[in-house]
Amino acid sequence: MKERPGNIFTFHDEMLLKEDKEKMIKQRAIAIWITGLSGSGKTTIAKILERKLYEKGHLTQLLDGDNVRDGLNNNLGFTAEDRAENIRRIAEVNKLFVQCGVITINCFVSPTTEIRESARRIIGPEHFVEVFVDTPLEICESRDVKGLYKKARNGEIKNFTGIDAPFERPKNPTVIIKTADQTPEESTDQLFDHIYPKIKYA
Ligand code: ADX
Repeated sequence: MKERPGNIFTFHDEMLLKEDKEKMIKQRAIAIWITGLSGSGKTTIAKILERKLYEKGHLTQLLDGDNVRDGLNNNLGFTAEDRAENIRRIAEVNKLFVQCGVITINCFVSPTTEIRESARRIIGPEHFVEVFVDTPLEICESRDVKGLYKKARNGEIKNFTGIDAPFERPKNPTVIIKTADQTPEESTDQLFDHIYPKIKYA
């Protein structure tokens, strides 16, 4: 064990490796990081993808903004600082799952390049697959599944992404999904085709 400042001890030398766990469950673990506006369709696609992977015998964990903010991150709001902390914790959780051989499917607005890059750094770039659900704001707003855009327009909610808080489009995502032109099943098939070769155990 290595001693670190603050009486923190690491024991990485004795731990089983990611590869050991992957061998057991016959898959390669990656973190699928789905970014996009609220109402863009991230969670819809993630749920279909998770089921599809399950049917093929893969072990996954879906992590979603609304759920994580209900528990682990229930002390965080939507200021830039809180969003950065939200994503930092989620990325650390991802790191544990991926280390355990589990494929994660993340649905977080993660609105800036900086916080997406911080997640990539924490999880490890070799395990991180960035997916941009590129649904125009007008469509997200017209869907307004949770009624939040209306509240944001009325000023009842502040710092709402796309309205009075920024969303920076990913510069070089691995996958871009245009939900406006596709059914959710078609979008998910497109994503599945990209990620399946990465998780297939050979
Ligand atoms: S992130 O910006 O920190 O990545 P996260 O994905 O966890 O956001 O949470 C976004 C979800 O919280 C949205 O889908 C929406 O339902 C809800 N929400 C509530 N307030 C806001 C806000 N001000 N901006 C964006 N989403 C909000």
